[in-house]
Order: sequence, then C-alpha cells, then structure tokens
Amino acid sequence: MAAFFDEETIENVREANPIEDVIGSYVHLQRKGSNMMGLCPFHNEKTPSFSVSPSRQIFYCFGCHAGGNVFTFLMKYENMTFPESVRVLAERAGITLPEREESDEDRRWRSEREQILSINKDAANYFYLALKSDEGKDAYSYLRSRNLSDETIKSFGLGYSRKFRDDLYKYLKEKGYPDELLLKSGIISFKEETGIHDLFWNRVMFPIQDMNGKVIGFGGRVMGEGKPKYVNSPETDVFQKSRNMYALFIARKTKRDHFLLCEGYMDVIALHQAGYENALASLGTALTEGHCTLMKRFGKKVMICYDSDEAGQNAAKRAVPMLRSAGIGCYVIDLSPYKDPDEFIKALGASEFDKRIEEAENGFLFTVRKTSEKYDLRDPGEKTRFFSEVARMLLTLEAGVERGSYLSSVAERFNVSERDLKDLLIRESEELSRKPVKRYSAIDPEKTETSYEYDNSPLSSKEPSEHIARGMAETFRMFLQFLCFYPSMLERSSPFISEEDFPGIYRDIYKVIEKELLSGHKINPASIISHFPDEKGQQEAGRIFSYTGEEYDSSEARGKAFKEVLLRIKKERLAKLSGGSGESADKVFSALMDERRKLSDIQRTEFVI
Ligand code: UTP
Ligand code: MN
Repeated sequence: MAAFFDEETIENVREANPIEDVIGSYVHLQRKGSNMMGLCPFHNEKTPSFSVSPSRQIFYCFGCHAGGNVFTFLMKYENMTFPESVRVLAERAGITLPEREESDEDRRWRSEREQILSINKDAANYFYLALKSDEGKDAYSYLRSRNLSDETIKSFGLGYSRKFRDDLYKYLKEKGYPDELLLKSGIISFKEETGIHDLFWNRVMFPIQDMNGKVIGFGGRVMGEGKPKYVNSPETDVFQKSRNMYALFIARKTKRDHFLLCEGYMDVIALHQAGYENALASLGTALTEGHCTLMKRFGKKVMICYDSDEAGQNAAKRAVPMLRSAGIGCYVIDLSPYKDPDEFIKALGASEFDKRIEEAENGFLFTVRKTSEKYDLRDPGEKTRFFSEVARMLLTLEAGVERGSYLSSVAERFNVSERDLKDLLIRESEELSRKPVKRYSAIDPEKTETSYEYDNSPLSSKEPSEHIARGMAETFRMFLQFLCFYPSMLERSSPFISEEDFPGIYRDIYKVIEKELLSGHKINPASIISHFPDEKGQQEAGRIFSYTGEEYDSSEARGKAFKEVLLRIKKERLAKLSGGSGESADKVFSALMDERRKLSDIQRTEFVI
C-alpha cells in the first residue's frame, strides 16, 4: 500500500485540504442539502450528478461512478500518481513533507506508474541527445527540412531513436530498471523469435506529454516515405489515449477563447511554431468522448483543423456531433487548397491562417453542408430525402432558440421555406418517436474509447483483470456498505464470510474495513480510501462509501436484506469452487463441504439489524 509517506502524514495532508474547497476550485459546486453538486468533470453531462460530501470528505458521480477522496480527485483530474497528489496538496496547505532519501525499500514501493514515468523521461532524454549526436544527423536534417527551428525541436523535446534493435533497452538497463517494468512501459517489447527489443528504430521521436508535462509515451515517424508512417507507444497505465491530447499541457494555458484541434503531431508543432500555442491533437486515434470531456474542462471553443482531404473531412463530420453533445461550441476551418495546417502555414503563413480562423464555419452547418454533398439536389426525390435527413439532424438540437436559429440558417442556405422545413421536422419527430433515437450516450465514457483508427503498436501490456459479473459486484458493494453503516454486523457475518469470499479489489477493501473495525476504529471513508494507492481501488472504495443508506421499513427488513446478500456471496463462492480452481481435488472437496455447511447455517440464521 501507500508506503511512500506514512499514514499519519497522509491523514494530516488530507485533513488540511477540505475536499469541497479543492474540488470547488475546479468544478462549480452548489449546495444541495448536506452535499454539494456540480457537473461531473469525468463525463459529459448537462444536469449535475457529481456530488461532494463535506461531512464524509468524499466525492461521487451518480452518472459515471467516479468517486474517492481528495487525492483520488487530483489523481483523476490532473492525471497524477498518489504520491504526486499528496505532494501537491501538502504544498497547497503549507505542510512540509518529511524529506527522505529514496531508499531501496521506497524504490520498491514507489508506485509502478511513477517508475514508468521515470522510464519515459529517461527515454525522452536519450532520444533528444541522440538527435544532437553524429548518428542523429539525418534525423536532425529531416526535421529541419520540415521547417522546424532548433527552438521548436527543443521545446517539443523531439528526438531520434538509433538504428540498433536494443539501443534504448541497454541504456535503460544500465539505469537499473528491471525488465518487467521496461516491458510494462510499452517502449520495450519482447518477441519469442527475437527476444527483447526496442519499439522504436531509426525514427524521429515525438514525446507525448500529459496535462502536467510528464512524458507518458511516444510517437515515432519514419524519415521520408515508409510504412508504418508512425509507430506509437501502446496504452499503459500512464498512457491512456483517450485521456490525453498532444500538446494539451501547453494549449491549456492559452488566453485565446478556442483550441485548434488538429489531426497530427506535425500540424500541432507547425502551428505552435507559427504562434498558435492553442493547437492540440488526439493521439494516433480518432476523437473520442474522453477527449471532448477533457477539452470541455477548459471552457474553450474548438476549431477543427483536420486535413482537407476526404478522410479528414469525414473525421470532422464525426467530430462535430461529439463536441456538440459535450457542450463544446465548435467550428470547422477550411484549409483548401492545402492539405493540412502544416502545409498551409508553410505556404501562406499566420496572417492568412488568422483569416481562415475568422471564416471558420459553424460546426452544425458544416455537417449539414457535408450531408448535402451526398445528394443530387436537382433531383426532387433526393432533395426531399436530404431535407428529411436535415430535419433529423435538427431534432438532435435542443428545442427552442437553438433549434430555431439553425432552422432559419439552413432554410436560407438551401433555399427552402422555414414553414416547409418545420413541417418536415414535425413529421420526422413523429417518425422517430416510434423508434429509439440514437444518441451519443455520455454515461459510460469507457464504452466508446477503444476506436483507434490507426494503431500500429503492439497490444497493450495490461494484464486482464479478474472478471466480476455486474450483479455480483453490486452484491459485494452492498455487503461492504452494510459493514460500514452497521459495524456490529461484522461479528454476525464473520462465522460465514471471510476474505476468500471476495475477488480482486473487494477483497482488499474487505480486509481494510475488517482491520479497522477489529481494532475498534470508526469507519472514516476518506481515510480508508487513502489506503489504496491506485485510482481504481480508490474509485471502488469511494463508490462504496458514497452509499447514502437504503431505506428499510424495519430492522427485520434490513436483516433480511443482509441475509440475502450473505447467501448470494456464499453461492457465488460455491459456484467458483465447483467450477474448478486449479486446486487439488480433495482440497476442493473439503472446501466445498465447508462452504455448503456455511450456506445452510446462513439459511437457518435470523439476522436483525
Ligand atoms: P498524418 O498522416 O496526417 O501525419 O496522420 P502527420 O502528423 O500530418 O505527419 P506528416 O505531416 O505526414 O509528417 C495524422 C496523425 O495520425 C496518427 C499520428 O498521430 C499522426 O500525427 N497516425 C498516422 C498514426 O498514428 N499512425 C500512422 O501510421 C499514421
Ligand atoms: Mn501532415
């Protein structure tokens, strides 16, 4: 567990940082009863389901189930490790943390995430130095031939991966990183036939930094022609493509009222060099809801500057509704006759680009115009079908002023009367009310985040996590919630239930709660959450503690519910045991007998809470 600081220090820091103050500086919160509510920064929503509890010092979102304590919030929002979040909050509260030399023990304990970040940092340095070395000459002239200045190369930390299959590996090995960790970083890989080797070989390197400027991965481009054009780091615990954007850590500080959303690394860099510090890009993947949520935090409009070719324009057409449903105002910049921002800037410079920004087309109207290109509007039948499609698009807008003003613009642009368009709208909406409307669902950000258009990286090194059926997860949560709210029930359940009954994270949480209760402590949700150094654990613990207590009519009813939960847990255990678990047969048999006996004991017991 979190051993980098001792428990007391962590508690001091936590108590010195009231969660409502810290979160309040990121999210607009409004008091509602004993809680504070606001728009969740972790998924896209229009009505607040994000709650902060000052009394319990935890936050929880009823929409996407993000939750935890003040450290979890920073870890999630700022993409920090647990120790980082402790350090930042200590500083915020003016607490000096005990300075310690990093001992071997600390190093071992230091979270894996932090060590992977350290590998990436060392690698970025190594690539940068290689670019400046003799062997990096070609790479350097390649970058210069693409009009990048020394200053730009330096500020983006561009580099070069040399022509040896294990060059970086050897270097990192010398620094003392173990193989296991190097493989987890994703920039070193292993193949049966060839052994351990570097992911990047003879490429110019683009370090990818998170929101705080930490290197979390790389893109590597071939010099000149060649396939694949880019190789990218695979997703790791530190590099989640949907939760990061290229150059966001610079762009987030812009004073302008918009971001320039590009397709590629080179576009972003060219724009920054031309003075547009607000340019950013998604990372070797199409835009996702996660990216929209991320950009939404900064309250900026988004100007899409995708390539002017068909692929780029289609991508823009897909991006607009996503941005809009995240509540981001968006516009599309026309770069023709040039292919992309990089070429445009090279040819015409910033003053012409400024004009294009000014002339940018409203996102919704852009999608309507693109749609019109699919139809031959001289043909009456096609024209009707086009307007029906437009009517359906208008229906996705909020009824009222917004829909009304777009309806007028469309009518004017396509030379149709507003009356006719309104009639179509009514007809289409009647049609649609008979079918479910397809929407960009915002509830589960995880769901849509796996659509990588390009991904030439090897599979992520993530280990498969234990599968827990959704219903069972809910059961484990209910049990743990019972323990927190009615601590005396531990005594009633412990003859039947032990840590072996819980899989994965639930076992860890059970152990922590059990330990606290056995040593006579009261359950302090926010403090228990800190026992879990990783975000997933904190989130799950937060979810359990955010429970507000279900209403039961009587203590009998409550007892019955408790018994029901115990039975479900026991039955699950029995099912697991009889499903074969790799144990020897007679061991399984005696365990089965044991568990069966407990099950019937539970059945015969009355619980009253
Ligand atoms: P582009 O092909 O437009 O590349 O891909 P680019 O960044 O403009 O580079 P130049 O100007 O040709 O040198 C846009 C983005 O798509 C991802 C990269 O993130 C790239 O920046 N991509 C593209 C890949 O991940 N892999 C590929 O093979 C190609
Ligand atoms: Mn390009």
